[in-house]
Amino acid sequence: MTGIICGTGSFAPAKVMDNNDLAKLVDTNDEWIRERTGVVQRHIIENDTTVTMAVRAAEEAIKNAGILPEEIELIILSTLSSNLIMPCAACEVQKAIGAVNATCFDMNAACSGFIFAYNTANAYIESGLYKTVLVIGSESLSNLTDWTDRGTCILFGDGSGAVVLKAGETKSYKAVTHSDGSRGEALTCISRYAIKDDSDNGLMKMNGREVFNFAVKKVPEVINEVLEKNNVNIEEIDYFILHQANKRIVESVAKRLKADISKFPMNMMEYGNTSSASIPILIDEMRKNGELRKGQKLVMAGFGAGLSWGASIFEWN
Ligand code: COA
Repeated sequence: MTGIICGTGSFAPAKVMDNNDLAKLVDTNDEWIRERTGVVQRHIIENDTTVTMAVRAAEEAIKNAGILPEEIELIILSTLSSNLIMPCAACEVQKAIGAVNATCFDMNAACSGFIFAYNTANAYIESGLYKTVLVIGSESLSNLTDWTDRGTCILFGDGSGAVVLKAGETKSYKAVTHSDGSRGEALTCISRYAIKDDSDNGLMKMNGREVFNFAVKKVPEVINEVLEKNNVNIEEIDYFILHQANKRIVESVAKRLKADISKFPMNMMEYGNTSSASIPILIDEMRKNGELRKGQKLVMAGFGAGLSWGASIFEWN
């Protein structure tokens, strides 16, 4: 038994901030941001929260899966930007959608979060403990963005994506994940509750160059590792669904893998980097656009703070 994605959903808040809006806040411009990152606009919450966005994505995924909320046995919500410390955001989603039989917890592995949550869900399914699992990535990064720092505020956005995994008889692939805490300083955000003086503003800080160099090296490596581990040839892969951090990172990964860039769908133009929501939002858009067909082999790859990175192979059903 392994987990099969049988439903997807996503949500992005209505308010949009484009690059020209950002140029009113910091010394930047549309051309620079597009060229260096690929981002054109990002969605920003007004009244929504990490939880309310997660609920919207989850409801859509459940409907698409054709299941009842009561059938869900486990909810894993990946986020680094929850509006709650407790109860966990997953419990709030459970309450809102009526998934009364689910066990619920949150996970934080930053921008690798969806991959790590998906792998955790799959491990539970493969162990036989649960058969129906809801995995959500939901982020309100605008709350953690320093809107005076042009090195970071141009990158991030808010949104949520969800998938329903059901146990089924299909080929099971082994995931590959890594973490390197010794390089954690490259991308940080200290909890506001831990700050005792004005030495830190509790917002995201990043060494952009270091994170860029890490991503373009480690993502191709981990994709090759997961392909090798599962005896899958790179030509067999229909799509590489990468965390949507930056267009140049995705292009560089495609180049290093010597894979056709048309196999690397991108939507960071519209959303910016939505951390653990980016992969499920992209999968949901691909489903809605009719790009996914039964039997296709896909690779997902995430990377981000920690530092952390990982990749999984799955087949569309
Ligand atoms: N607008 C205009 N100019 C900017 C700018 C902005 N928003 N941000 C930086 N610059 C300037 C810098 O001040 C610098 O100017 P200088 O040469 O006069 O000193 C120049 O542009 C180059 O800066 P640098 O930081 O070296 O740019 P870069 O090419 O590395 O691009 C990032 C910056 C952040 C876009 C890039 O490093 C990146 O994408 N990193 C990965 C970040 C990421 O994806 N993080 C999340 C991972 S999950």
